[in-house]
Amino acid sequence: MNIAIDGPAGAGKSTIAQRVAAVRGAIYVDTGAMYRAMALFMIRKGIDPKDTEAVGEACGDADISIEYRNGEQRVLLNGEDVSDEIRTEAVSAIASTTSANPKVRQKLVLLQQALAKKTDVVMDGRDIGTVVLPDAEVKIYLTASPRARAERRYRQTLEKAAPGQEIPSVEEIMKNIEERDYQDMHREHSPLRQAEDACLVDSSDMTIGEVVDRILAICDETA
Ligand code: DC
Repeated sequence: MNIAIDGPAGAGKSTIAQRVAAVRGAIYVDTGAMYRAMALFMIRKGIDPKDTEAVGEACGDADISIEYRNGEQRVLLNGEDVSDEIRTEAVSAIASTTSANPKVRQKLVLLQQALAKKTDVVMDGRDIGTVVLPDAEVKIYLTASPRARAERRYRQTLEKAAPGQEIPSVEEIMKNIEERDYQDMHREHSPLRQAEDACLVDSSDMTIGEVVDRILAICDETA
């Protein structure tokens, strides 16, 4: 069974998808990490992320692959493990732009489809239910209000911050989230939207455990 989980940034997709995958004995695939690795490649090459032609041409030289170490997904860019380096705000911002490039999408969608053919996956992203796995047995559109997502991100940042380190306010984080949502939902190619046959789960007032249980129940109903 393939399970597609789509939704905006900060809705909790990766945490939830990982737990669902563990219970169902499936492989978790974080497609956002692939788009982030591609963004890092463009940053390193000094390519303007808005230059459609240059990004489209350069993406052919980026070999992106996925490996699992101790059950954790690692993303390799031309053989180098970049899993930690892709988690910065700078990469997030550039990834939102370069992921709108049709050549980038074409390349990564093929890779994602090949992974799902080999094994049962729980795949999270923006276009999994609509484009990558239109025949997935279960499709979830996981969302939460911009404020709920910003508050979660704020708490996570605070937990990881060094003593005395300045961190952005909830309002600032919310502004970034809303900007990124707008970009992801209004791009020309594969914009973020709920697939017609996807189940909507709004996690604003739910705990992680409740969301996981809800999705597992949907899987059981489908099986
Ligand atoms: O989920 P994330 O924040 O790691 O995703 C990084 C960027 O990649 C984000 O701007 C949306 C984009 N993305 C996409 O266009 N399609 C996907 N399937 C996954 C992510």
